[in-house]
Amino acid sequence: MTSSLEEIGVCRDMVDARLSEMFTEAGLSYATLVESIRYSLLAGGKRIRAIICMKFCEAAGGELADALEAACAIEMLHTYTLIHDDLPGMDGDDTRRGIPSNHIEFGEFTAILAGDALQASAFETLANSALEPQSVIRMIKVLAKAAGPHGICGGQYLDLSGEGWQLTFDELIELYSMKTAALISAAAILGVIAADGTPEQIKAAGDYAKAIGLAFQVRDDVLDCISTQEELGKPIGSDIENEKSTFVSLLGIDACEKLIHKETEKAIKALEGKFENTKFLTWIAQTLADRNN
Ligand code: IPE
Ligand code: IPE
Ligand code: MG
Ligand code: MG
Ligand code: MG
Repeated sequence: MTSSLEEIGVCRDMVDARLSEMFTEAGLSYATLVESIRYSLLAGGKRIRAIICMKFCEAAGGELADALEAACAIEMLHTYTLIHDDLPGMDGDDTRRGIPSNHIEFGEFTAILAGDALQASAFETLANSALEPQSVIRMIKVLAKAAGPHGICGGQYLDLSGEGWQLTFDELIELYSMKTAALISAAAILGVIAADGTPEQIKAAGDYAKAIGLAFQVRDDVLDCISTQEELGKPIGSDIENEKSTFVSLLGIDACEKLIHKETEKAIKALEGKFENTKFLTWIAQTLADRNN
């Protein structure tokens, strides 16, 4: 029997191999833009969203490969958000995934365009996937909603416009649900759609991922305070420097630990009785709650 860690390795290898086949056109006059896309996309992210997508597909009765294009689309869209998040007009961070941020290496206009291109390519990748057209349309709708004004863009707006003062608990829940949990939920739901799962499974996947997504961002904020740049591959202290309103600034680290574990329990409960085998999804929720990077 394969261990959960080995299962992660299988998904990561599939995603990394597929992503490295993309953006390989030779002899382009705008080759530097394409190089900058590959630079960030293949810099070794954890691929958590892709893994969640593929494992929900498997839990709902599909093969990992059925969700591979969706998983790659999610990672492209996620990488776009990171490139833009690091820009001087947003968080202004110089390191990402252990290397200089895209705009440090390639300059600002190239980084903006690399992000734009990755977002468009994510939807192109979904549209080109070999699933039933009805499933593809459903996936495009779910991902577009998560990425748009009521998802990541709205969440990033609240995050940036909230700099300099403390948002309330409820305001932070809304912000985190949009900027981070929305994409993780979309990843889980796309996996279930790829397996042609039931509406109950889609609901359970969304509830699970919303809770782990919230816990994931709270852990990210804690790590921004207590980890090191070597471990995280991105600068620490970024939130304090930007006077960000976070759960750490509102509640302190101990209460954040409690919140992370409460949301993780909620996530695991949401799966009860909805899928045949939830061993991996339970394990990954717990592992993400205690992660160090
Ligand atoms: C970072 O996401 C941005 C957040 C939502 C906290 P990840 O921690 O998943 O970043 P990568 O993909 O591993 O680089
Ligand atoms: C990430 O929030 C949100 C998105 C990129 C959408 P952060 O700004 O905390 O992410 P890191 O810490 O820079 O990865
Ligand atoms: Mg940010
Ligand atoms: Mg940031
Ligand atoms: Mg952060």
